[in-house]
Amino acid sequence: MKALVLSGGSGTRLRPFSYSMPKQLIPVANKPVLEHVLESIRDLGVTDIGIIVGDRASDIGRVLGDGTRFGARITYIRQDEPLGLAHCVRLARSFLGEDDFVMYLGDNMLPEGIEEIAADFHKHGPAAQVVVRKVSDPRAFGVAELGPDGSVVRLVEKPERPASDLALVGVYFFTPAIHEAVDAIEPSARGELEITDAIQWLVTQGADVRAGEYAGYWKDTGRAEDVLECNRWLLARLAPRIAGDVDATSEIVGPVVVEAGARVVRSRIVGPAIIGAHTVVEDSHIGPDSAVGEHCLLRATRLADSIVMAGATITQVPGLAGSLIGRAATVGPSAHVDAHHRLVVGDHTRVEVAA
Ligand code: G1P
Repeated sequence: MKALVLSGGSGTRLRPFSYSMPKQLIPVANKPVLEHVLESIRDLGVTDIGIIVGDRASDIGRVLGDGTRFGARITYIRQDEPLGLAHCVRLARSFLGEDDFVMYLGDNMLPEGIEEIAADFHKHGPAAQVVVRKVSDPRAFGVAELGPDGSVVRLVEKPERPASDLALVGVYFFTPAIHEAVDAIEPSARGELEITDAIQWLVTQGADVRAGEYAGYWKDTGRAEDVLECNRWLLARLAPRIAGDVDATSEIVGPVVVEAGARVVRSRIVGPAIIGAHTVVEDSHIGPDSAVGEHCLLRATRLADSIVMAGATITQVPGLAGSLIGRAATVGPSAHVDAHHRLVVGDHTRVEVAA
């Protein structure tokens, strides 16, 4: 079996981050979403991985390389325009050949693993197997209607009136039967070739399409709130490890990772929290639910429930929470004596100051 990871797309809901990095490289618990995805695929024993990349191809290539680090072989496949998930399957035709494959959306996190669903696919051998999960509001997703035997009767993309509470999770198992389906469909109202329509085409043709229910934690990391929630979920399962320097006047409470080369000075770190490699924390309170990337500087700051990306500097900010701070960003007091707030923020940035 091969894997096809979709990592194109523009990520408008993750602006401003998606202006400077592909959304799939946003770190959760200090690791890019896409690395979590590759680990999930590796857990299936799949090592031949095609990745669909858009105009951020070089950023993704720099982080993932040829896949050796994950025990995999990565083939990059370029998509010039985000024309839909089924379009990605068309583009990957020669890479996929006549193999079965798992298709994984590169911004979906299923940290509790999909091994059982993969085993079910291999055992029953349907033409396609979707992964579904019960959600309270399915309108933002593809929605599956199942027959009594668990087979898929109907699939609808983002229905206004969902016929069930089973959302399509962004993971699909396919046989080569999907190729005829992606060639047969037309673009949807939003102008994309929808994978949901291609699978529905298989159902209409009478093919056996099954659904495997994933009951674990699932997050489509499409918005900042989702990224923070996923960060909290992963951090809550952190194995504590202190590899960096924590001075005698500092206090570590609960599950905390301090990476090698990091320094914690006169500070309190409340887990779950990670302090990245070569980061300096001085006179600060960090945590809980905080992931600080590498080469950051946090001084005289209180930070909770946040993600701070590599190279950021935060000084003298007494109450930061629920925040995503981008790479090499600087947050701190104004150098101008009479300025209350001085902001140099990018497009589509969101700043919420305490009243
Ligand atoms: C895509 C699929 C949708 C699925 C969702 C999961 O939607 O079209 O069926 O439920 O991923 O994340 P998109 O995120 O492209 O709007």
